[in-house]
Amino acid sequence: MIRINANYQKLHASYLFSDIATRVAAFQAEHPGARIIKMGIGDITRALPSACVAAFHSAVDEMASDETFRGYGPEQGYEFLRTAIATAEFRSRGVDISADEVFISDGAKCDTGNIQELFSTDVVVAVQDPVYPVYVDTNVMAGRTGEWRRGRYEGMVYLESTEKNGFVPEPPVDLVDPIDLVYLCFPNNPTGSVATKEQLQRWVDYAIEHKALLLFDAAYVAFIRDDSIPHSIFEIPGAREVAIEFRSFSKSAGFTGTRCAYTIIPKSCRAFSSDGASVAIHELWNRRHTTKFNGVSYPVQRAAEAVFSPEGAKQTRELIDYYLENASVIRERLSELGFRVYGGLHSPYIWAGAESRRTDSWEFFDRLLHKAHVVCTPGSGFGACGEGYVRFSAFNDRASVDEAMSRMSGDL
Ligand code: MLT
Repeated sequence: MIRINANYQKLHASYLFSDIATRVAAFQAEHPGARIIKMGIGDITRALPSACVAAFHSAVDEMASDETFRGYGPEQGYEFLRTAIATAEFRSRGVDISADEVFISDGAKCDTGNIQELFSTDVVVAVQDPVYPVYVDTNVMAGRTGEWRRGRYEGMVYLESTEKNGFVPEPPVDLVDPIDLVYLCFPNNPTGSVATKEQLQRWVDYAIEHKALLLFDAAYVAFIRDDSIPHSIFEIPGAREVAIEFRSFSKSAGFTGTRCAYTIIPKSCRAFSSDGASVAIHELWNRRHTTKFNGVSYPVQRAAEAVFSPEGAKQTRELIDYYLENASVIRERLSELGFRVYGGLHSPYIWAGAESRRTDSWEFFDRLLHKAHVVCTPGSGFGACGEGYVRFSAFNDRASVDEAMSRMSGDL
């Protein structure tokens, strides 16, 4: 008898963004004339930078000729892209990362979801709350949690990220069992918060002291507009031994549909075998990657490389500036409407306290959809600490942002 992985039955709800898409589709079917403005999922709306498109075209042309055609590429990614990333994103900021510590992939969602399979199923996992649901759900699927009870999974540690701590949790001091695997995301999805060097240093020190590992999701790093904010966990002394970083071209250069991301695993980053011996995570991930992945397509990697050309860098920055201006419009309007507004300064996400409207997150989501035909993301979908908040995404064209904001009136 074929039996299922029973851990899947613990999953409390369908994937947050699929759930939202289903509700929006149902509303649209009932109201075919409604022009819905989507500010829910963080999906790019503007075209790829022209430097990327030109590189993409030219690589496709190479594939059209026997002389320049390429079949399987290296699973870890082409040397040209790994070197461009190490140089432009890390070495230029004085961060010691080499090209062979960069693994190219088809998405930070896949990498942050897959990385957990390198680790024992009995490690203690901690996530920020509110949290990008992929970190939680993939650990549930792997069997690292108990059942869903009162809005949380048993056995998982939730690091409460609230207005009180500026949405940046401190390492725990009161746990009987220290945590082993910690997911941190900065600029944060969903709250838009950023962490200081001192805050990240405390996490690195915790990981060193407790032989833990930090999984640092920096998918939104391109939105940081203040140089004193750390862009990478590897700017923090000691991090090369205790951290992995995830990045993506999705939100920085509009690759959500094109697919290209990367994971940085320093060769000195370690985990431990059951007898306490140190094991290089780089080797484990390389083993997994070569077994389960055949690389990102050559034209896509050439398009990604173009992000680091002088024109590509300029166009990418303009693209992000555009979304940040949207974020500023959203912040301003929501403040006028009496929301408590966070994020949107170094992030495409605006996190808004909705309880001044005397409503919970899903109720507000429904009200906004029905009255204004605008889609947001209910904060409680990201965790218990998200209740009473909603998230707005700034990925949209300006006219739609303006229209969505003008549809939102005081009686919502
Ligand atoms: C989000 O809206 O949180 C993101 O688009 C999700 C993702 O990048 O997978």
